[in-house]
Amino acid sequence: MTLPASSRLQFASDLEICRILKGMWQVSGAHGRIDQGRAVDEMFLYHDAGFTSWDLADHYGPAEDLIGEFRRRFAMRYGEERLGEIQAFTKWVPYPGPMTRSIVEQAVGVSLSRMGIECLYLLQFHWWDYSDPRYLDALKHLADLREAGKIRHLALTNFDTDHLRTIIEHGIRVVSNQVQHSLVDRRPMARMAAFCHQHGIWLLAYGAVLGGLLSEKYLEQPEPPRTELITASLQKYKRMIDAWGGWGLFQELLRVLKRVADKHQVGIANVGARHILDQPAVAGVIVGARLGIAEHIADNARTFDLALDSADHAAIEAVLLKSRDLLQVIGDCGAEYR
Ligand SMILES: NC(=O)c1ccc[n+]([C@@H]2O[C@H](COP(=O)([O-])OP(=O)(O)OC[C@H]3O[C@@H](n4cnc5c(N)ncnc54)[C@H](OP(=O)(O)O)[C@@H]3O)[C@@H](O)[C@H]2O)c1
Repeated sequence: MTLPASSRLQFASDLEICRILKGMWQVSGAHGRIDQGRAVDEMFLYHDAGFTSWDLADHYGPAEDLIGEFRRRFAMRYGEERLGEIQAFTKWVPYPGPMTRSIVEQAVGVSLSRMGIECLYLLQFHWWDYSDPRYLDALKHLADLREAGKIRHLALTNFDTDHLRTIIEHGIRVVSNQVQHSLVDRRPMARMAAFCHQHGIWLLAYGAVLGGLLSEKYLEQPEPPRTELITASLQKYKRMIDAWGGWGLFQELLRVLKRVADKHQVGIANVGARHILDQPAVAGVIVGARLGIAEHIADNARTFDLALDSADHAAIEAVLLKSRDLLQVIGDCGAEYR
């Protein structure tokens, strides 16, 4: 299987990505036990199918080490000259505290060494507490490390529009902001997307398939109790659905998505992911993979064959109009973490 050319996007002048990135929070241990050998075997299946881009973080269990191992085995199997085919985007999520050059440099050094690379492809920075302005110190040091060749591109995750603006006003250049973005969570469309579009910043969207809730598996099913939501991801997005409008309205959405999916001969998850890929400023959607446990390579490839038409959008919009506005309920992007 090979993905179509439309699966690729020029993310930066020197960096092309697959528009469905594979998310590695799912290897952290909070989504089932991962066998690391099998996980790396399966990374080859994704890569060989065309899913060459990975999203990870310093705190996703062994994710950075798995990238290191994958790169080592990849170089042995295909030759070092092909390592450039892989894109692995990590995050730095520091505990609040002083952000000196040496603290920042040490954190970057740990990720470099775990991933077995000389320069991070993309470093996405998260900050827990806006009342502590030291995020600007951290970002300035990260920008210096970019100049020093330790980071190719600097990016953010879970920043809201106001603080993204503050960062830009401080002259710090970032290529993307990774935020929750789905048919249920449309907060990025309120302010963030327009700001990003204006400033040439991409959005990377997570949660587009709601941890798997946005699929046939949950269609016409009773509301699952918490004990049946066996991954941290399912629990996270069930809370979002509750805040958005509840299980009854979600079933209404699934029914409409099923009709759209059947019309195009794809799955419900494809419709959800395609809808987000088509939104302004969105470079890619990050779909989690429980590597070695459950595999959705062919399922997710179908997203690239799908083109939603105006009738599909109208049918989906009619349900979404009945939901609560999460911007009002939660706040702008990332507010759920603060
Ligand atoms: N920056 C942040 O704060 C943040 C927060 C959350 C996530 N993320 C990133 O986003 C990634 C995705 O995580 P997520 O929590 O948002 O999960 P998600 O991508 O919404 O859900 C992943 C789950 O969806 C199911 N799935 C995937 N493709 C499917 C398909 N075509 N049909 C049916 N089911 C399908 C799989 O469930 P089964 O395995 O059960 O089959 C998979 O484990 C993470 O790994 C991480 O990289 C970032």
